Amino acid sequence: MSIKEILTYPNEALKNISTEVEAVDDEILQFIRDLEETRQSGPGAVGIAAPQVDVHKRIVIVDVSNMRKPVDNHGHMIMINPEIIHWEGMAKGREGCLSVPDFTGNVIRAEKIKLRYMDEHSQQHEIESTGFEARAIQHELDHLDGLLFLDRLVSRRTDLFERKVYKK
Ligand code: NI
Repeated sequence: MSIKEILTYPNEALKNISTEVEAVDDEILQFIRDLEETRQSGPGAVGIAAPQVDVHKRIVIVDVSNMRKPVDNHGHMIMINPEIIHWEGMAKGREGCLSVPDFTGNVIRAEKIKLRYMDEHSQQHEIESTGFEARAIQHELDHLDGLLFLDRLVSRRTDLFERKVYKK
């Protein structure tokens, strides 16, 4: 396994649109292990997306189950070709990102989503997610379309916050 270098803003490669994974082969499985190792090696990110390590394929990992404050969640999810099919409600909440290490920001997201994805065993899933987990999923899926939370701030003046130390 190996830890990959994380691209940080304003690296232009973060704006790429990622392509669908056609088959979960050994190369993809190895990459997923590396992506997970990279997520865990850092400051405890709840999610990571393939394009953040310069691999422009539609793969993300989300796991909010280790938050200090427990939240409703589906545990550790490896999502291949994820697609949100329903959005409900809106809520503003604070987000951080491994690719934007020096800032956090307030972003408006759907409160509840329904999504489809394939896991690393090529099984299809359709789940509903709410609250913080839904926010994390929406944040990670944005990376697949070349978007950062910075692109979703209503105002950089009032919704962007500097931070000294990265923590969850
Ligand atoms: Ni991010």
